[in-house]
Amino acid sequence: MEKETIKVHDTRVTGISRQEAGALVTIALKGISFQPGQFLMVKTCDGEVRWGYPYLIEEAGPESVTVLAPARSDLYRQLPDSEVAVWGPRGRGPLADGDGTVILVAQPATVDRILPFLRSTSHRCRLLLMVGENPQGNCQLFNEQISTVCINGVEPLCVALEGMDDSQIIAALNPREMLEFRNFAPREIQQKTWMFMPTKIGCGIGACVGCVVHSSEAPFGIKICEEGPFLRLDRVDLEADIHSFVTRV
Ligand code: FES
Repeated sequence: MEKETIKVHDTRVTGISRQEAGALVTIALKGISFQPGQFLMVKTCDGEVRWGYPYLIEEAGPESVTVLAPARSDLYRQLPDSEVAVWGPRGRGPLADGDGTVILVAQPATVDRILPFLRSTSHRCRLLLMVGENPQGNCQLFNEQISTVCINGVEPLCVALEGMDDSQIIAALNPREMLEFRNFAPREIQQKTWMFMPTKIGCGIGACVGCVVHSSEAPFGIKICEEGPFLRLDRVDLEADIHSFVTRV
């Protein structure tokens, strides 16, 4: 089998637009194409300790790529013209081939993880289901782009999804709600749900094995940096990994 070559590009930030969900950071990089759900590894060059971190790709043009940097990330505090090292796109986009529709599911704290689908494939996004006690503010945020319904709890979410069509489901939930979803949702729903796996990414190139999650179908687990970060829910042994997942508040 031919070995994959992963090139690290030394490049620069060309623009930053800070928004509610984080900063949209544009980085000079030619000829990148991506699928929503894939990420770029970015290492900033201004800290004493310089690690690369994964950032979901929002857009790509002939000369640049734009990623979303959460407010507490290294990339968020960079200025235009800052030096960065990048490698990617990494991971796998979860969207099925064709023009099938998608239902998005998120909580206020995790909604940034599904934004790439709204930005680059909004024509396929049929509905956004926001889960939480009071997610109204976030519902208004997206009203113009997509029909949004607020649902108070995971059990009602599963009931609502059961009554819907055959759309693929792309979801980002915190670990507790993810586990509840897995417990309440019938198997048919789980089989069409691609869930964001909020595990730590180390090397981002499949070498360190730090991102592996347990799976009954794969004896050595699944590398999230290669097959994720969105994985079909029924492939993952959530109980084994739930305590290594990151919670957002
Ligand atoms: S992050 Fe190193 S193998 Fe996935």
